[in-house]
Amino acid sequence: MPASDTSSDPDNRPPPNAATRVPPSGTRSGRFSEPMSARMQRFNASVDFDRRLAQADIAGSRAHAAMLAAQRIISDDDLRAIERGLAQIEREIEAGAFEWRHELEDVHLNIERRLTSLVGDAGKRLHTARSRNDQVATDIRLWLRDAIDALGAQLRALRSALVDLASRHVDTIMPGFTHLQVAQPITFAHHLMAYDAMLARDIERFVDCRKRVNRMPLGSAALAGTSYPIDRERVARALGFESIAGNSLDAVADRDFAIEFASAASLVVVHLSRFAEELVLWSSPRFGFVTLADRFCTGSSIMPQKKNPDVPELVRGKSARVIGHLTALLVLMKAQPLAYNKDNQEDKEPLFDTVDTLTDVLAIMTDLVATGLAANVERMRAAALEGYATATDLADYLVRKGIAFRDAHEIVARAVREAESRGCNLDLLPLDALQRFSPLIEADVFDVLTLEGSVASRDHAGGTAPSRVRAAIAAARDDIRSSQ
Ligand code: ARG
Repeated sequence: MPASDTSSDPDNRPPPNAATRVPPSGTRSGRFSEPMSARMQRFNASVDFDRRLAQADIAGSRAHAAMLAAQRIISDDDLRAIERGLAQIEREIEAGAFEWRHELEDVHLNIERRLTSLVGDAGKRLHTARSRNDQVATDIRLWLRDAIDALGAQLRALRSALVDLASRHVDTIMPGFTHLQVAQPITFAHHLMAYDAMLARDIERFVDCRKRVNRMPLGSAALAGTSYPIDRERVARALGFESIAGNSLDAVADRDFAIEFASAASLVVVHLSRFAEELVLWSSPRFGFVTLADRFCTGSSIMPQKKNPDVPELVRGKSARVIGHLTALLVLMKAQPLAYNKDNQEDKEPLFDTVDTLTDVLAIMTDLVATGLAANVERMRAAALEGYATATDLADYLVRKGIAFRDAHEIVARAVREAESRGCNLDLLPLDALQRFSPLIEADVFDVLTLEGSVASRDHAGGTAPSRVRAAIAAARDDIRSSQ
């Protein structure tokens, strides 16, 4: 560190030391006797990917410099020079005119070196009371905070698209499945709203994770804090952090906030992979429940008749990389001794790719649900009629007539077998045939054997009855609006 950086009184500082040589590259100070090989430079450098942190890095530097000046650790002239230089660098980066150099390792040293070339010694003073260790931990948190906010907005947009589609299918009946076997009739809206419920929890998880992301490491310096009279609260306020990290070692060393985010992101893609899988199945002619608009599908290079559901397949496939990134981050952190280790430079690519993948997946799924997904109402209904989906309703009917549920279950099982052998559904068995299984069965049984009767009877909070689904849709709309 140059001697001038150690003075806490700007008025009493020795004149700029013209003899202080700017090290030739990155951290290669006079401490080192030989240059880095090109391979070492490439291996060591993170600037190709961490330049994405530039905005956050500049914001952090502005707040840090303002605090240094307020605490009289640097002069007001230095602060003005730093602000001028950073503004210029910001413009250069935005215009694509900034020259990123590998030999300067990372985003932090690239910006600092350019600042020094623009404003001279004031640029060299910016790093007073700061280390790249607290700097990078702060930058990632600032960057991730914005990413979480943007993803939250995207999740809400997908929820809106799902809810809108659901509102058009409150009376559309399809078979609900367990074990992928037809189980009971449900409404298509109810099925769609199940995904809305998952996404609502996904949003909650992001909101919760954001609280722990939004704590400021800056001021921890390399690991032990700093001997300068810094004001961390002031910097935290300027950067919109909710609080400051309480332990300097932990603040530079842990990336649990990134792991938490990757975990929340993994759950989003796991949820979407289930929906995607269903769309793949449903759009297959065997099911024919939905038709995906051509613009979301591709053809085959060899089979002219094919129309492949590429979007849902890719959404299902991309879940693998997000889950992989979660694993990578967990393993990266495991067994690292305190405090900062260069291993942590490897946190960025998985984190960035998690955000990028999720951003793409959410955007295309929202498009698909909002504009490219048509329900084939008749096919859904036909499938619900085929699989004895109202068998439970018949059992419940018998229970209402005084038969114990287990006995009713057995009676209906035999009736289903009879229907199967006649090749028809339960509601097409004649009354006398049904009565052979139980004399308690009367003509009113046909009310419960209809799909509409079955669905309407599940009339309690959380059930598939159209009135309940309408209420769920209204509640979801309120929730989406209030979570903006
Ligand atoms: N590029 C580094 C990273 O991403 C910045 C921190 C470097 N700190 C160090 N002590 N070498 O983690």
